[in-house]
Amino acid sequence: MKTVFSGIQPSGVLTIGNYLGAMKHFVSLQSDYNCFFCIVNQHAITVPQEKKTLKENTRSLAALYLASGIDPARSTLFVQSEVPAHTQLGWIMQCIAYIGELERMTQFKDKSEGKEAVSAGLLTYPPLMAADILLYAADYVPVGEDQKQHIELTRDLAERFNKRFHDVFTIPEAMIPKVGARIMSLQNPLKKMSKSDENQKGFISMLDTEKQITKKIKSAQTDSENKIAYDPKNKPGVSNLLSIYSLFTNQSIEELERKYDGTGYGAFKDDLAEVVVSSLKPIQERYYNLIESTELDKILDDGAEKANEVANSMLKKVEKAMGLHRS
Ligand code: AQP
Repeated sequence: MKTVFSGIQPSGVLTIGNYLGAMKHFVSLQSDYNCFFCIVNQHAITVPQEKKTLKENTRSLAALYLASGIDPARSTLFVQSEVPAHTQLGWIMQCIAYIGELERMTQFKDKSEGKEAVSAGLLTYPPLMAADILLYAADYVPVGEDQKQHIELTRDLAERFNKRFHDVFTIPEAMIPKVGARIMSLQNPLKKMSKSDENQKGFISMLDTEKQITKKIKSAQTDSENKIAYDPKNKPGVSNLLSIYSLFTNQSIEELERKYDGTGYGAFKDDLAEVVVSSLKPIQERYYNLIESTELDKILDDGAEKANEVANSMLKKVEKAMGLHRS
């Protein structure tokens, strides 16, 4: 079986963008791949996090992985900070990376823009992400479109390392869904939907109530044409809503265009709100059963044990290849 690794930051409550662009695919990969899914809390601290919130979001994300369908009997689910090899290999990958290539990363530019002071960690996030992936000899990394550049850098760093030392690393490939790789903000459809967006109306969280979901969809930005058509360039708002509708219902965009031909945005948005509410309902029910359970901690403890075993073995190989060992 080929290996898959992917992570999500506990930097807020998961949005439907994270779900449709990443989590939903993780669930479908479990039967065909040896999967490692990580809660990357060390990536989350590259921007300031409040202690209590970070702790809560970490647990919440673990419960959402499971509630969405990650099966701990088939996949390894763990928290990044509980596997020290990530930061150990992360340091080594920082020494392989060049500052110039890190400064060119779009995420670094976006997240540092307009800030007076940014953490050094925001710049060195990609080498840590490379370490996350390379530790498990992952063949594939299922991610949304926004992470493509980081996976390309991971490949460059791994190839550079393999050339300079021994052929230690497996060169991973990004696995990007054809549809849903980029769900956009409901308030600014030219910007991707993000869980840390200051504008709460821009995203739908996986734990939003029926009332919140309906309100957010009703106030989603559209245009004055009142025509349901998929045209991301000229109608980015409506196109984004159509993508969300299509991904939750498995109905094609064309089918939806036909269904809503001649109806206005009001009726379309009412139906979409119902679709999102009913799709999230079973996930939310499972989530609330899991969040207070000791079962959740047991799953994460077991996951950390398994991940530590695999990661430590790879770290030893890397250190040996570089001369970071005594015997
Ligand atoms: N809007 C999106 N559409 C499709 N996929 C998305 N992903 C994120 N946003 C969208 C995918 O979700 C996975 C987890 O992402 P992450 O939490 O590690 O980091 P991110 O990409 O930076 O996600 P956010 O929600 O935007 O987090 P913040 O606000 O903290 O920066 C990844 O596979 C990502 O591609």
